[in-house]
Amino acid sequence: MEKEQSNNSDAFETLAQLTSGYCVARCLHVITELGVADVLESSPRTAPDLANAVGVSPDALGRMMRLLATFGVFQQEGEAFKHSPVSELLRSSHPQSMQPFVRLFGLPVYWNIYEKLTYSLQTGRPAAEKVVPEGLWDYFGAHPEDNKIFNAAMATKAVGQVAGVMAAYDFSGFKTIADIGGGRGHLLKAVLAATPTAKGLLFDLPHVVAEAAGLASERLSLQAGDFFKDPLPVADAYLVMEIIHDWADEEALMILQAIRQAAPAHAKLLLVEQLIPDAPGPHWSKMLDIHMLTLLGGRQRNLQEYQNLLAQAGFQLEREIQTFAGVSILEAVCV
Ligand SMILES: C[S@@+](CC[C@H](N)C(=O)[O-])C[C@H]1O[C@@H](n2cnc3c(N)ncnc32)[C@H](O)[C@@H]1O
Repeated sequence: MEKEQSNNSDAFETLAQLTSGYCVARCLHVITELGVADVLESSPRTAPDLANAVGVSPDALGRMMRLLATFGVFQQEGEAFKHSPVSELLRSSHPQSMQPFVRLFGLPVYWNIYEKLTYSLQTGRPAAEKVVPEGLWDYFGAHPEDNKIFNAAMATKAVGQVAGVMAAYDFSGFKTIADIGGGRGHLLKAVLAATPTAKGLLFDLPHVVAEAAGLASERLSLQAGDFFKDPLPVADAYLVMEIIHDWADEEALMILQAIRQAAPAHAKLLLVEQLIPDAPGPHWSKMLDIHMLTLLGGRQRNLQEYQNLLAQAGFQLEREIQTFAGVSILEAVCV
């Protein structure tokens, strides 16, 4: 009987925490937006001191930081707060700063979309349709401030992924490497730095390529375009990192077919994605999957699902190369 009671109280606590998950997320967003992690340097500071520095209510800031500290974001020491390994990553100067990533998930447009989540549940379609009928990519194209945050967030989330890909794959056999939907070029830049004999081509939408203009060089060219409409570059290897997961099967297939059409017979396709594992336990890919459904109508896939998509587009999956960064490289050849 006693055991049952304690189980029930665990269950109550679990649901109470989960149902208020947005409270923690919002505290994290607003405190990050305010730059508290930048103001808090190496020595502990009290909430009134920090509040004074950023111009907010000392009481409210202290209570929000106290909550975040229970999740390991900041550490509380009496009346003062200091950095934890997690909050260090909120500093804009940290080489692996996740500040833009947190700011992205705190954007009002994301919250407005999540308010319509029932629409996704009822229809299987992105709730974004109810808020930004033009689609999220066009939305970012028309909202430069949000676009900057999105592109910075992609660069941020890619820091570890790029290191993982570079440690796992040898690009030296390729003369030309195209990065399709390569954002600001973070992956291609690293690949070219490690492969001095190769030239690279960055393909993305015009408002994204414009942000990468500074990268253009004799070895790295930029091509602005839409992979649903415009011809794709000819290359020996095609890098496609976290692009296919943005799309439902029909569009994913169109992108893969467009690459197949441009690719010479000897070319290799390298999809970089976080696969849904078979194990039922917690995994970031399962949360990312719901973000994909809600924001874009895309999905995270397992290995078999990728293999099927690739086969339909005229590619054969040769091998999955796991990286230390949670993403896998799916290497495919033309058939
Ligand atoms: C999730 S981001 C991935 C960026 C980068 N590959 C990475 O993993 O960091 C998706 C990218 O696809 C680009 N994109 C979306 N629609 C596109 C289209 N129709 N044609 C070309 N690029 C597109 C976006 O601009 C964005 O840079």
